[in-house]
Amino acid sequence: MRALSANLFALLLMCALASVFYVWSALESRLERHKRRFSGPGGGSFRQGLSEDLSAKTFRALLAVPAAQRPHFLGARFKARNLTEPAAPAGSRDYRVNEDNKRSGRRAEPVKLGSPVAGGVFWSDWLEDLLPVGFTEEYAQNWRQKARTSRVVKLEPGCGRISNQVATFADGTKACVRYGINADQVQGETLTYYLASLLGIPNLPPLALSQLHGDSEQWAAVRTRISGLQWSDGAVVSLTEWISNLTGVVTPAPLRQESSGLHPALEGLGNRTAAELLELVQWTDLILFDYLTANFDRLVSNLFSLQWDSRVMERDTNNLLRTPGGDLVFIDNEAGLVHGFRVLSMWEKYHSSVLSSVCLFRRGTTQRVAELHRRRDSRRRLLGLYTDREPLSQELGFLSDEHAGLLQDRIDRLYKHIVHCKGKYSQE
Ligand SMILES: Nc1ncnc2c1ncn2[C@@H]1O[C@H](COP(=O)(O)OP(=O)(O)OP(=O)(O)O)[C@@H](O)[C@H]1O
Ligand SMILES: [Mg+2]
Repeated sequence: MRALSANLFALLLMCALASVFYVWSALESRLERHKRRFSGPGGGSFRQGLSEDLSAKTFRALLAVPAAQRPHFLGARFKARNLTEPAAPAGSRDYRVNEDNKRSGRRAEPVKLGSPVAGGVFWSDWLEDLLPVGFTEEYAQNWRQKARTSRVVKLEPGCGRISNQVATFADGTKACVRYGINADQVQGETLTYYLASLLGIPNLPPLALSQLHGDSEQWAAVRTRISGLQWSDGAVVSLTEWISNLTGVVTPAPLRQESSGLHPALEGLGNRTAAELLELVQWTDLILFDYLTANFDRLVSNLFSLQWDSRVMERDTNNLLRTPGGDLVFIDNEAGLVHGFRVLSMWEKYHSSVLSSVCLFRRGTTQRVAELHRRRDSRRRLLGLYTDREPLSQELGFLSDEHAGLLQDRIDRLYKHIVHCKGKYSQE
């Protein structure tokens, strides 16, 4: 009997130990999975993962800075002006046409076509000829017309935050819908888009506004989903064309903090392939554009994050993507102009530092900047283009006088920077 009890006890003890071991192993493997989720893409450390998380939170928090004064937002009214023509991107061709074989082939070749720099501080004409045509005005106009008249049959996540949704139109094509948490965001996105048009920068996907009405045909099929998202009736949202097969873009070495910058005397510039140079050309437009709009949510945010994340430059740049053919696509411009101007004091030193690192420009972009500087009419021209192209411009409103003044001021400063670069490099 005793022997039986002892055996029974031993059996019970073994069972208990086995259970403890089982529970512990399960816990350990869960812990391991959890740790892996926190490590960086290159097998980085927990710290690195934490930094990424922190930096993302910091920028979302900054985007949520409440507006001190917003008299010019929703419902603001202004007089429509005459059309001011946007700068037409070189050769008004369909966006897709730029993927033609001839261009792609030439882009992959090493540079045999002479110096990439001309006239002291400009990218050479032969490079400009190889440049993607991007989203032409004609292409954008067609897309806007379609986006305004097509029924949305599905709304689902896939464009970042929950307040951005992928919309599928009845014909199966897609767009990103942005419902601004506050009016700054949709206004910033829209006005930034039209400023790019004015400057002839063709890297932003076409954009159209739409108003959410309970009884509108465009949104009828997704009414339940809209109320689930708690989007309010009457809100103005932006639609931007969904572009397939985009991938991330790392900031090129000459634009990183440790470099001397992107200027005509940069060592090894002439040894780069045409594809590498073409990417740099588009980056120079991006830097000028983000400076003018005070958009911190791209390269500038990386500079800021360097304080606690020394490897941030090795990762993809926020809100910048690339097509398989090498065209850069500037997405998510909602921090530009409105919000960017409101928090300017916080970011200005980073904006200036990034701008001062660039002394190479596209000739066409500098010509438009010079013209807007000379005529001091950036407010009038931006307003004219916006009201002419966007039927809901009256609903969304325009820049306050203060912000329109800041834009002109930044154009003037950019112009002076270009003149400074010419003085520095044209004599060498
Ligand atoms: N027009 C577009 N075409 C294709 N993909 C897009 C487009 N817009 C956004 N996306 C996809 O959605 C992702 C997030 O977009 P976006 O930056 O607009 O949102 P977000 O809420 O700011 O997200 P994040 O915080 O990651 O920047 C992009 O990285 C891209 O993968
Ligand atoms: Mg974004």
